[in-house]
Amino acid sequence: MRLRPKNKPESIMPNISAHLRYIGISDIDVAALRRVRPLIEQHVDEFTPYFYRHLQAFQDTRAFLTDPAVLQRLLIAQRHYVLNMFDAKFDDSYYDLRCQIGHTHFQLGLDFKWYIGAYALYLDFFMPRIEDMLRGDPDAISLVRSAFQKVTVLDMSIVLEAYHKRDKQALAETNRQVLHQEKLATVGLLVSGLAHEIGNPLASIQAICDNLLNRDIDTHIAEKLNRVRSQVDRIVNIVGQLVNYARPASPIWKKVNLRRVLESALEIARLARSAKTVAVSMIVNAALPPIEAIEDQLAQVFVNLFLNAFDAMPEEGGQLEISAAIETGLATIRVKDNGCGIPAENLKKIYEPFFSTKDVGKGTGLGLHVSLSIIQNHSGSIDATSALPCGTCFTIKLPVLQKASDEIPA
Ligand code: HEM
Repeated sequence: MRLRPKNKPESIMPNISAHLRYIGISDIDVAALRRVRPLIEQHVDEFTPYFYRHLQAFQDTRAFLTDPAVLQRLLIAQRHYVLNMFDAKFDDSYYDLRCQIGHTHFQLGLDFKWYIGAYALYLDFFMPRIEDMLRGDPDAISLVRSAFQKVTVLDMSIVLEAYHKRDKQALAETNRQVLHQEKLATVGLLVSGLAHEIGNPLASIQAICDNLLNRDIDTHIAEKLNRVRSQVDRIVNIVGQLVNYARPASPIWKKVNLRRVLESALEIARLARSAKTVAVSMIVNAALPPIEAIEDQLAQVFVNLFLNAFDAMPEEGGQLEISAAIETGLATIRVKDNGCGIPAENLKKIYEPFFSTKDVGKGTGLGLHVSLSIIQNHSGSIDATSALPCGTCFTIKLPVLQKASDEIPA
């Protein structure tokens, strides 16, 4: 068996010719199919409704055919398809079209056993009519039967290949996700180890500063020491935030103060280089009641939104407005940037896993997908509006605890 070299792109792999040779489709078969093409044309408009009546008789296939507009499109697509089987040029565009049909059915979520099984209807419907037409010429009948069977096997194998390719892609994406999760878990561990290593020397510096500041020293030196002390405090704070963020999330529901989560998420996100030139404003309504949430997860959503906003801003600077208030009984958080905006066609896809407009290696395409599932898990909603090139506004709505004494379920 010859294996495909690892990095060889799929497009230069032999396409249709390998299938044709393997199944044994020759010019004789092509001629046999063409011979009965007028008969097929005569009966195709009887065949297509028969085909879909059959599919409507089974629960697993009926579910795909409830929309009359889809059925209408299918009658036309099926007609073209059948006729094309009998006058096809078996070239790469034939192969590509079959692959496309395979992808369509895979995308629909149709199990391939129903797809492949439906080919029996072709043979069942057309063979008796072909035999009738070629009555008295058994050699011609067997030639056409053989060619017909071969072409259905050809189509089945291409569609199966398309299904298989899609399955492999889905598996590769899942693997990518697992690898990424693994890497994140390792980073979490490293960050807490690093924090420990940095923490001790920082604590010593703090102690030395405090010790010196408690003595009677020159005011000029005291001022400098105070500056050292406050910069060290800042490092301790940042490291603490990072450790908090990186540690494995504990899925504990508790009463959460949104202001605190927003502020700590912002501190984390501000560590990103893209944040340096962004002016941030945050207005949190003082009367905002607590919400019931898994704090780490909410922080993850906000960090993600802030980082996305920073990335969307021009290098020379931008503005990020964060607000949180009660609207129609729900905690409503808005994260509004004045960055490059998201085109309408992408706005529909931003929550799809692995959808990313960032350069390769810069985004996993999982951030908003994960954010959506976190917010939904909190019985909330997330919506984005965008205007090109004026920026994007994400609105998150979350239920609040009505009374401070509201119980948090276990
Ligand atoms: C011999 C097997 C089949 C053949 C040759 C076939 C052929 C086709 C073709 C040519 C299209 C249009 C392809 C495209 O737009 O990319 C299509 C679409 C579709 N097929 Fe099939 N099909 C088969 C089996 C089935 C089965 C078993 C079902 C189950 C109900 C099904 C449901 C659909 C649906 C729902 C669409 C999408 C229609 C639309 O939204 O426009 N097909 N099929």
